Amino acid sequence: MKILVTGGTGYIGSHTCVELLSAGYEIVVIDNFSNSKRDVVDKIKMITNKDFTFYEGDCCDKDILTKMFDKNDIGAVIHFAGFKAVGESVNEPLKYYRNNLDSTITLLEVMKEHGCKKIVFSSSATVYGKPDSLPIKEDFPLSTTNPYGTTKLMIEDILRDLYKSDNTWSIALLRYFNPIGAHTSGLIGENPNDIPNNLMPYIVKVATGELEILSVFGNDYDTKDGTGVRDYIHVVDLSKGHIKAIEKVLSESGIDAYNLGTGNGYSVLEIVNTFMKVNGVDVKYKIVDRRPGDIDACFADPSYAKEKLNWEATLGIEDMCRDSYNYVKNVKED
Ligand code: WQD
Repeated sequence: MKILVTGGTGYIGSHTCVELLSAGYEIVVIDNFSNSKRDVVDKIKMITNKDFTFYEGDCCDKDILTKMFDKNDIGAVIHFAGFKAVGESVNEPLKYYRNNLDSTITLLEVMKEHGCKKIVFSSSATVYGKPDSLPIKEDFPLSTTNPYGTTKLMIEDILRDLYKSDNTWSIALLRYFNPIGAHTSGLIGENPNDIPNNLMPYIVKVATGELEILSVFGNDYDTKDGTGVRDYIHVVDLSKGHIKAIEKVLSESGIDAYNLGTGNGYSVLEIVNTFMKVNGVDVKYKIVDRRPGDIDACFADPSYAKEKLNWEATLGIEDMCRDSYNYVKNVKED
């Protein structure tokens, strides 16, 4: 029995493939390299000293998905594949709705046709919109403020309707907070080619001199130092959460959502200062206007995932800052 990982060469997907292989699972991976590099396949194999089946392809392509299920005994799926840039989704909503929804519906149809009814879905804390209180629990109201977030909420709704139609499905909805960091090997991580939207990749590029200065989007929020507060979680902790979720969906039917966060909120300036301290580098920054759509603060109550998945984050922001920088330094040396 194999686990299919869609988007398995992406940032979170590649780290999850490492954890799956290390835990003894056999995996099949599909990716179209729309937001990842081809050499990640080999790096996953190098880290784990394990082999696996890889298909280059798009999850909107029913033929390749059918071929994968025909040729492999796939018992469960972890579905990462999808576009994920908030800003891009505002400018190009149809691209996001077409890709993220079409790929998911196609995948679910092929799963159903092959009797595979176990899936872990890569959702996001963005489905909570602007929370009325903190920390955020899974039963909080759901709303979204951008097309990317709306595709995540729509897919959650599709999966909830699917389960209502057939309660033999087993579905885990994993709501990520802010994943950062990289595998300690320095072989896989996050290093976008273009100008990063997210905080940590931007900090790293300023630290390496690739970008001149970090713009801190506002210091007039209702937070400890006025800058935005988020629940940053190490991507390795996040990936281990997927192993627990796979164990859950393999063991019982049902559908449930789980917050994958640390439960701790850190401000932009706390992250910048921690990054400079642990890496011994300078990160120049300037305070600018708020970024439209940003919220003051967002952090998880992760107790449900602890209770139901027996999972909790163990790595701290110093690990996240050190590993993020270690990866990019390693990539630059390549
Ligand atoms: C974090 C903080 C910014 C960049 C988004 C998506 C979410 C998930 C993670 C996919 C905020 C501040 C940022 C910069 C800054 N993605 N910031 N200068 O917006 O919390 O979440 O990415 O699932 O769905 O919404 O993450 O890293 O963009 O911002 O000051 O150059 O850093 O204002 O307070 P965000 P982020």
